[in-house]
Amino acid sequence: MDNLKNKVAVITGGNSGIGYATAKQLKEQGATVIITGRRKEAIETAASQLGVTAIVSDQSNVADTENLVAKVKQDFGQVDILFINAGITGLGTIEQTTEALFDSIMNINFRGAYFTLSKFIPILKDGASVVFLSSNTASMSYAGSSVYSSGKAALNSVMKIASLELAPRRIRVNSISPGPTETEVMKKAGLDAETLKTIMEAVVDKIPLKQMGTSEDVAKMVSHLSSDASKFITGANFIMDGGMVLN
Ligand SMILES: NC(=O)c1ccc[n+]([C@@H]2O[C@H](COP(=O)([O-])OP(=O)(O)OC[C@H]3O[C@@H](n4cnc5c(N)ncnc54)[C@H](OP(=O)(O)O)[C@@H]3O)[C@@H](O)[C@H]2O)c1
Repeated sequence: MDNLKNKVAVITGGNSGIGYATAKQLKEQGATVIITGRRKEAIETAASQLGVTAIVSDQSNVADTENLVAKVKQDFGQVDILFINAGITGLGTIEQTTEALFDSIMNINFRGAYFTLSKFIPILKDGASVVFLSSNTASMSYAGSSVYSSGKAALNSVMKIASLELAPRRIRVNSISPGPTETEVMKKAGLDAETLKTIMEAVVDKIPLKQMGTSEDVAKMVSHLSSDASKFITGANFIMDGGMVLN
C-alpha cells in the first residue's frame, strides 16, 4: 500500500497512542511523516522506532507552533496531511474546576489546536487534508467533563468553519470523534491501575459493541480521510465509538 507516496504528513502528539499508531499507518502507506511532542526523549525514541522525523513542539505554545511551521517549511516544503491530535484529558465538576485545570486542557486541546491549524495554513498544499482529533464526548453530556467536552465541541465548530474557509483551495477539513480508546491518556491523568480498571469496566458496559476502540481503528480513519478515496468529504465529524453516543 503506497497510496500516500510523496505526501508530507505532520502529526501533533505522535509519541504515543493514536498519534503514534497514525504515524505508523501513514508511513506504511508511503508518506513522509513528522511527529511532534513536548518531551524530546519520548518523541525521538518514537521517531526512531517508526522511521519518521521528530520535532519538539508544545501545542499549547503558539511560538513553538510558529517554529514548527518554519522548520517543516524549510526541510519539507509544503504539507499534504495535517493531523491535529495532541491532547490531554482532565475531569472535575464545574464547581471544582480551577483556572489552572481549565487553562491546561483548553490551551492544548482547543487554543493550541486552533493555532496549529491557523499557523499551518500558509504551508498547506492546495488539496491538502486536515483532521482534528475530537471526541464523542463533544456530542454527549457527562457530569464532570465540562472543560474537556466543551473544548472538543468547540473544535468541531472550528472544523466546519475551516472547511468553508479552505474549500477554495480544495483543502478538506474533518474531525474524528473516538469513544473510549486504549491509550496512555487516562494514565497521564494520574489515575491508579485499580481506579482505571473500574472506570474501563463501567465504560465498556455503556458501549453497545462491548469493547474499547483501538488506536489502529482511528489511524485507519485518518488514513482514509487523508487519501483521494475521501476527496468529496469535508466539514464532517466521524464518531467512532461502538455506538456509545446513541445510549
Ligand atoms: N484515548 C481515548 O479514549 C480518547 C477518546 C477520544 C479522544 N481522544 C483524543 O485523542 C487524542 C490523542 O490522545 P491519546 O488517547 O492517543 O493519548 P496519549 O497516548 O496520551 O497521546 C497524546 C499525545 O499528545 C501529546 N501531547 C500532549 N500534550 C501535548 C502538547 N501540549 N504538545 C504536544 N504534544 C502533546 C502526548 O505527548 P506527551 O508524552 O508529551 O504527553 C502524546 O504524544 C487527544 O486529543 C485526546 O483528547 C482520546
